[in-house]
Amino acid sequence: MPQIIFTCDPDFNELALDEFRRDSVYGAPVAELAPGVWLAECDDGFWGLAESWQTKPPIFVRHLCPVDAVFPLTSTSDDIAGLAALAEAEFATVLDPDLPYSVQTRVLDSDLPYKPFDLNIALSGSLTEATGAVVDVRAPEQVLSVVCARLDEEALSRIAFLASQAADSGQQTAQFAFLGLSPTYLNISDWAGGVRRFAREEGQISRAEFKLLEALEVFRIDLPPRGVALDLGAAPGGWTRVLRQQEQFVTAVDPAELDPRLADDKAVRHKRMTAEEYLADEPDEFDLIVNDMRMDARDSARLMVAYSKQLYRHGLALMTFKLPGTDRKQIIDHAFGILRQRYEILGARQLFHNRSEITVAMMGKEQ
Ligand SMILES: C[S@@+](CC[C@H](N)C(=O)[O-])C[C@H]1O[C@@H](n2cnc3c(N)ncnc32)[C@H](O)[C@@H]1O
Repeated sequence: MPQIIFTCDPDFNELALDEFRRDSVYGAPVAELAPGVWLAECDDGFWGLAESWQTKPPIFVRHLCPVDAVFPLTSTSDDIAGLAALAEAEFATVLDPDLPYSVQTRVLDSDLPYKPFDLNIALSGSLTEATGAVVDVRAPEQVLSVVCARLDEEALSRIAFLASQAADSGQQTAQFAFLGLSPTYLNISDWAGGVRRFAREEGQISRAEFKLLEALEVFRIDLPPRGVALDLGAAPGGWTRVLRQQEQFVTAVDPAELDPRLADDKAVRHKRMTAEEYLADEPDEFDLIVNDMRMDARDSARLMVAYSKQLYRHGLALMTFKLPGTDRKQIIDHAFGILRQRYEILGARQLFHNRSEITVAMMGKEQ
């Protein structure tokens, strides 16, 4: 059966596996290669599953890639040349020479004596030499995904042809590289395994900033020049800082203090009160409402519904659903039901920078 690899936050494994089972044809997980990294089989293969996830994107699955070739690793530096030769033999004829590409490697077994960078360089070197295709690691249109991992006995027993290779070597566990080529847009995330890192900047106020940066990128949100934004649950002010960098005028609502570095910024207005109090205080209208309040997702959704009349026509909203503990699926469904009264849901994703939460993008409905 065709194989694929998908990733998720390991704390949300069950919900991601539910999405895979629901949307694939006879999908079955084979092995967890590392926390939240699943090797799986399904009848419709990578292309069928990826197409259905284009129409109905998953929330919890972060990244998907095909497995077109499997390479047994020796755990020596010989693997680098071996993989480069395999990449050329298997993929040089299918790589589109006119489209930029990149090799994205994940090394999930710390015993292997090479790093992702070593393999990226070697494999792209041999592919570019064979095809003339140009490497663009920032904006590739096609990606050769390489996942190096160790399979235990149980996982090996489920994949007969891998088990026989391991048996030949007389070992209980065995390391393999799984390789697959795909158009970047079908991989759900443009980043290896869905791991999107941003450089830490001087002046950064909170780690939450990464969450907003990632959300703006994933949901392809362009903010209007000199727009007006409302930041609910703004303290200490990381999201407000990101919005200011994008030249928005920001009303920051939070009973807690904002970082003093925002105090001198005339384009930031701190309403030191709760979102409920600000709603009763004749609030303005906004191009964008963001909400990262630490609050039950359903209560937060009710507040967003109440705030929808403060959104200009075609205004956008972004919010996080906090999902500690149990009943996460029911809480999400309930919160979506509340939001749909006043919003069209544009997307929902558990971003790399989300912890025990998901991020939802919405547009106000005509009222
Ligand atoms: C996760 S923090 C927000 C972090 C912020 N996005 C940043 O980037 O710095 C959650 C905030 O929600 C605020 N909060 C909780 N309930 C609130 C309410 N009813 N109204 C306004 N803010 C609230 C808390 O005071 C807290 O500062």
